[in-house]
Amino acid sequence: MKTATQNLINDHVYILRLTDVMERMVMTLATDSADMEMVVNLIKNYADGFHHAKEENLLFPLLVEKGFSTDQGPVSVMLHDHTEGRRFVKGMTDAIAHYKTGDESVIPDIYMNMEGYVELLRAHIGKENNVLFKMADKAFTTLDQEKLLTEFATVETTGYSDGQIARFILDIEALEVIYKE
Ligand SMILES: [Fe+2]
Ligand SMILES: [Fe+2]
Repeated sequence: MKTATQNLINDHVYILRLTDVMERMVMTLATDSADMEMVVNLIKNYADGFHHAKEENLLFPLLVEKGFSTDQGPVSVMLHDHTEGRRFVKGMTDAIAHYKTGDESVIPDIYMNMEGYVELLRAHIGKENNVLFKMADKAFTTLDQEKLLTEFATVETTGYSDGQIARFILDIEALEVIYKE
């Protein structure tokens, strides 16, 4: 049976692919503001709006029910990482807005925030896959996993139009074609 933690690990695969795109954008000194905005929208709507929402609204509260703390320990570290990530996203959003007015001096600022986000998210996903989710798998019963997985599916069907999540993936793939190895 597919578990809720496996569902989140699957999202991580796409988020990591997006970080690879971002790394290539910085390495190749990309200047296309539409592509930059596409990246930021994917972070806001897929990585944060969809994936982090499943963690913050459903996974973490269930872990708290199982005795995890939100003030210290792994859940608090993950919450802190999500907040840090949003700081980088705000940095990118603001800098891209300036860049679109013709101010090219902010390009290094865009790259710095992209690099910060990439580094943070790769480490964050490593911690979740290798530590937090293993703890969750021990703490959760089969029924917990099934219930959580159903709730994840509800997020997708009620929060997004039909096929929207699949379109996010297609957007990541389209960026991969442009910013390939
Ligand atoms: Fe997370
Ligand atoms: Fe995650």
